Amino acid sequence: MMIKNVAASPSGLNIVWVDASKVTLPWRWVMDHAEDAVSMNHQTHQRNIDTFSLSSELCAHSATLQALGNSVCIQWQDGIETTISSLRLAQVTGKTLDDDQISSGDSKQLWRQGSMLKSLPAVDFEQVLNSDQAVLDWVNKIDKYGFCIINHTAPTEEGTIALAERIAPAQRTIFGTYWPLSSKVKLHDDTAYTQDFLSPHTDGCYYYNAAGLQMFNCLEFDGEGGESIVVDGFAIAAKMKRQCPDLYAVLCDVIVPGHYKEKGVHLAAERPTFRHDRHGNLEQVTFNNYDRSPFLLPDQQQALFYQAYAEFNRHSMDQANWIKIPLRPGMALIFDNWRCLHGRMSYSGSRFFYGCYHDRADFQSRIRTLSNDLTQ
Ligand SMILES: [Fe+2]
Repeated sequence: MMIKNVAASPSGLNIVWVDASKVTLPWRWVMDHAEDAVSMNHQTHQRNIDTFSLSSELCAHSATLQALGNSVCIQWQDGIETTISSLRLAQVTGKTLDDDQISSGDSKQLWRQGSMLKSLPAVDFEQVLNSDQAVLDWVNKIDKYGFCIINHTAPTEEGTIALAERIAPAQRTIFGTYWPLSSKVKLHDDTAYTQDFLSPHTDGCYYYNAAGLQMFNCLEFDGEGGESIVVDGFAIAAKMKRQCPDLYAVLCDVIVPGHYKEKGVHLAAERPTFRHDRHGNLEQVTFNNYDRSPFLLPDQQQALFYQAYAEFNRHSMDQANWIKIPLRPGMALIFDNWRCLHGRMSYSGSRFFYGCYHDRADFQSRIRTLSNDLTQ
């Protein structure tokens, strides 16, 4: 798999890939990442090696490619042998996707209203309930577009729970595990529980583990307006990175605090508007001007922050970037709260949604395991 040959050198394991590129990996790292049955517990996928006993002076005697190029066997000075798979070597050196990544950045389809599919990403409730293949299609659509509609849902609390649990158990927060959302239900001191216009935002800027997904199922609607708004925050980020890289950098650097207060609750967390993973890919957009808590920057940075934050807001309020979805009984909407902003047009009359959050790791676990089970 991808490796042309290997050799032991004093500085580490030399690898030559089939594309002729080369890399040398330090010996301590090579032993720390060994995958043979002694070095790693194959049952639990946990490390057996005592990392902290490994010397920085460690040096191997020789290295050989084996199992048709699928693994590398290392012979150490003291007669010990370890093995490491070519796949692991390819993953950690960026030759292929990291084991934990579910997709590369470019498999996500960024959008604005004009570039979105004519018929929005959607799945059918009964199919999702009855078929794992339909669930895989559903979670892949959420990963690709950042949102998905579910049609023909049961407009009940039980129906909402049955639907959500096809991805994973819901994420419990101060709002509960499953929660009603209506101007008639004043459970929390939040603008969401009114009939007012809600400008696009992400939820949970006051949690370190902000919800990965958010889902609403419409149980009742008797009124006017109230369309749900979805905006692709990753598309805004990509545009800013292209058009105004200096302002993009400000939103990567400035750590913005958020808070939520009500009787008996005082949550606070902080992170930059654009947060990247260790591969340098944008991982999370956080934008919620309602819940931003007071903070002061040095003069020049303060001015730049306001400029950059306003630029982000301008894009998020630009209706050319909005998808408006009038949710009616029998329809649910789910979206990636780390990528998409959501909002709501004001409404009159009465409306009752039932919703929940999902943890991002649970969502991604479902994609990994279903992809593995159904597409191998
Ligand atoms: Fe919200």
